[in-house]
Amino acid sequence: MIKRRAAITGIGAYVPDAILDNFELSKMVDTSDEWIMQRVGIKERRILKDRNKATSYMAVKAIGNLLKKTKTPPEDIEFLICATITPDMHFPATANIICDKTGLKNAFSYDLSAACSGFLFALETGRRFIESGGYKKIIVVGADKMSAITNYADRTTCALFGDGAGAVLLEPADNGYGIIDAILSVDGSGAKNLHMAAGGSLMPATHDTIESGLHYVYQEGQAVFKFAVSKMADVSLEIMKRNDLGHDDIKYLVPHQANLRIIEATARRMGIKREQVMINIERYGNTTAATIPLCLWEYENQLNPGDNLILTSFGAGFTWGAIYVKWALQS
Ligand code: UT7
Repeated sequence: MIKRRAAITGIGAYVPDAILDNFELSKMVDTSDEWIMQRVGIKERRILKDRNKATSYMAVKAIGNLLKKTKTPPEDIEFLICATITPDMHFPATANIICDKTGLKNAFSYDLSAACSGFLFALETGRRFIESGGYKKIIVVGADKMSAITNYADRTTCALFGDGAGAVLLEPADNGYGIIDAILSVDGSGAKNLHMAAGGSLMPATHDTIESGLHYVYQEGQAVFKFAVSKMADVSLEIMKRNDLGHDDIKYLVPHQANLRIIEATARRMGIKREQVMINIERYGNTTAATIPLCLWEYENQLNPGDNLILTSFGAGFTWGAIYVKWALQS
């Protein structure tokens, strides 16, 4: 008997209209289009400018797009996971706010915090709920308003991030397609290299923390870079090996979009050709939990049922992983 799997049966996404390009950035800090393109590969990023709108706003838009595309009544959704590190508030969970605003009256929900690996961690969680047999319709949304925690006076980080949201619908599939395998890892000792120091219980907000810029992303770029390449390549090769997949069996590698050089080095180390890699970093930058669903959303028309995809990510925590998906959706 074929095992019940969780399949991605729809994708929706949202990015804000406002564009912050390298030219604009070079008026804010000492940087240039040339440096950013050469070192990171980002041309522009989207920014949610309205101060009264937060991560839930983008997630609600992405889910609205998803429900419309899949013709799914909101009340059919049983469970929603929101992967984010920029929740609207510390509590309640942003996922709960999203359920309220999208009419998911019959869903329970929670947030999941795994930074750039958030979408993969949430996808694996949703997959297991579907495989349990207890749930038939789950939404996984990755959404981050990175502009809320980015210091636009710090040239080492402000060029990297953008805002956006991407959502997928998970449903049971009995035809052998869907999410086949996952390997997820964390190493908490990496917290020193990439974090936001203040605002939590360790360092509640004070005048001092604000004046010292401790409510912004802090990153030791080079240390993170090295880990990102080796971890994403190694875990992707591991999942390919244990599923007997050769390079030519892979339709697309879907890597987290943090730096074009990281993406290219990962693909090189894996022996994967550039045309087998989903890339859209040039237009959106690093949207943290949203990068992978934004890629799937943009490449959806190029995918066919049975295509093998390797989703991989690396981010703050450290967190990293790979998920093997046999694509189920006819575009
Ligand atoms: O998604 C979460 C995981 N995050 C990542 O995967 C990001 C990993 N790291 C990176 O992508 C890269 O390390 C960065 C893009 C963050 C930085 O690139 P880099 O090639 O590692 O540059 P660097 O930090 O070694 O800096 C080289 C120089 C420095 O100047 P000095 O000290 O040599 O004079 C920086 O101050 O480049 C300077 N620099 C810039 N110059 C112009 C740093 N940022 C900029 C900038 N414009 N925006």
